[in-house]
Amino acid sequence: MSQTNVTSQTKERNAALRPERVACFVTGTDTGVGKTHASATLLHALHHGGYSTTGMKPVASGGEWLDERWQNDDVEQLRAAGSVIAPQEEMCPFLMRMPVSPHLAAAMEGMRIAPEPILDAFHALQGRADAVVVEGVGGFQVPLDVGAARWSTADLAVMLGLPVVMVVGVRLGCLSHAMLTAESIRARGLRLAGWIANRIDPDMLLPDENIVTLIDMLGALGVPLLGQLPWQVAPAIAASQIDLGPLYATIRDMERMGQPSTTEYEN
Ligand SMILES: Nc1ncnc2c1ncn2[C@@H]1O[C@H](COP(=O)(O)OP(=O)(O)O)[C@@H](O)[C@H]1O
Ligand SMILES: [Mg+2]
Repeated sequence: MSQTNVTSQTKERNAALRPERVACFVTGTDTGVGKTHASATLLHALHHGGYSTTGMKPVASGGEWLDERWQNDDVEQLRAAGSVIAPQEEMCPFLMRMPVSPHLAAAMEGMRIAPEPILDAFHALQGRADAVVVEGVGGFQVPLDVGAARWSTADLAVMLGLPVVMVVGVRLGCLSHAMLTAESIRARGLRLAGWIANRIDPDMLLPDENIVTLIDMLGALGVPLLGQLPWQVAPAIAASQIDLGPLYATIRDMERMGQPSTTEYEN
């Protein structure tokens, strides 16, 4: 199957659709499926579309002490792909050292992941860039806290009230994972603007046929393919494969209908 070619006609249509500001929440069919890779690619595509951009990784687990500060690989990749400079505490208000589920990593450091600092950081980033790409944590239902303060990545997406982009790591098992994730996003009342096919497994059998199947299954839910990211192609180059049109259209539609209020969320 040929790559998604973003034609000059598509570019013209997208220029007409282009909202003033863009923000989206990137989730995936699992951890390690290419959310960071796709978020970085989206940042480049949005910059080509004329936006100043920054990534956000509200919650990250796995840190290394480098250059006198704790660093996380996802945050560094998003920082490299963005066009504006933002402080680490805004890009990543919760950076934990241990590479385990965030609520466990936080507990190991005697802290809890709370919604307010994330909302504050997101709003601060919106003041710095026209486009903010927020990368979720792990899969869509990863817990951020348990017990009385229970909440999850899904709640985080609802709190931010952003259109969602779903990254499918194209590998064996992805068909069911993609449908489960799409249905879960929809069940939370979120707008699923589109999906990205990320070719993470060069040895997979029949990858094109799997993508065609997903185009059919997700298409039946009204969820379009935004583009395919080839194996081992850098985000700055893969950006030309992304059609931002469906994301723009979703944002415009949400603006028309009134964005979901973030104050509706109560932890
Ligand atoms: N299209 C791709 N081609 C080759 N390697 C990829 C691709 N997408 C992701 N990877 C690699 O797979 C791993 C997981 O990707 P990452 O973007 O960090 O996933 P996630 O953010 O979902 O955990 C990383 O080592 C990344 O470099
Ligand atoms: Mg990541």
